[in-house]
Amino acid sequence: MTTKLILDLDTGIDDALALAYALASPEVNLIGVTCTYGNVVVADSVRNTLAILELFGRTDIPVFAGPDHARVKDSFEVQEISAFIHGKNGIGEVEIPDPKRQVETTSAVDFLVESVDAYGDDLIIVPTGPSTTIAEAVEASNVFRENANIVMMGGALTVPGNVTAWSEANINQDPEATDLLFRKVRNVTMIGLDVTLKTLLTTKETAQWSALGTTGGNFLADITNYYIDAYKTTSPHLGGCGLHDPLAVAVAIQPGLVDTLGINMKVDTDGETRGRTIGDETRLNDQDKTAAVAVRVDTAGFLDEFMRRLTGLARETAVV
Ligand code: BDR
Ligand code: CA
Repeated sequence: MTTKLILDLDTGIDDALALAYALASPEVNLIGVTCTYGNVVVADSVRNTLAILELFGRTDIPVFAGPDHARVKDSFEVQEISAFIHGKNGIGEVEIPDPKRQVETTSAVDFLVESVDAYGDDLIIVPTGPSTTIAEAVEASNVFRENANIVMMGGALTVPGNVTAWSEANINQDPEATDLLFRKVRNVTMIGLDVTLKTLLTTKETAQWSALGTTGGNFLADITNYYIDAYKTTSPHLGGCGLHDPLAVAVAIQPGLVDTLGINMKVDTDGETRGRTIGDETRLNDQDKTAAVAVRVDTAGFLDEFMRRLTGLARETAVV
């Protein structure tokens, strides 16, 4: 049986690894990718996504553009820290051929709403950037908020944030959007820093990709080495880079990789804790829990799957 997936990416290095994970998974039918801003502007997220799909020979997967800035703002500029971690082009300054294909004319929001109309909760949506596009879909459609099945990378419940002491990068971009998502969508799994900072990659693993001598192997190794280098400056205590976004895709396919806590969530939108993901005190005693927050991860199991799948994908690409 295959799982239908839509990825909502701000393509970014670990977003690229998440896309590769989905492409490498025979159980996945990736019906489309929607692109948001965050690590890069939307146009670069679209460009990177189309180019990576072409590199891996998957020009059959449509790509859609979402809104280009947060709900309470009127524009977006890439933050210095994002450019430092992901490179100015979002993929570690690695150059790959420009895509021949164009983005679809249907908007990301319409594609998401139509897809949930068509497939209900048989479809899993995996957002790995700010929640702006998902929030628009929530506002556009009751069917979407009732039936959308979302496994998102973002937030932190039991550990500090990575942008402020309170706030994780994806939530920090558009706290109002994630707050709406938590309050309205009935089926959300949160893959936050609580688990993603326990899944780390080092140059020992990326060397296996370079050794393949393929275009795909070199691409994956080069972008990830850039990301590992950035982590040496921003988070030297970790000893590797966090596989945030690919973990969300892996959990969408194999939920047993994490243990979750059932809880009704909210996002603080005011004061110094703006961007904090936390339990909603007003829904504490509701029997119905709309979110499941990952609090434990099978680190070795995930890393095995990650390396097996991505190495297999890279091996199939052209020899350099
Ligand atoms: C998240 O922020 C982005 O920089 C990464 O791509 C990931 O989605 C981690 O906090
Ligand atoms: Ca991301």
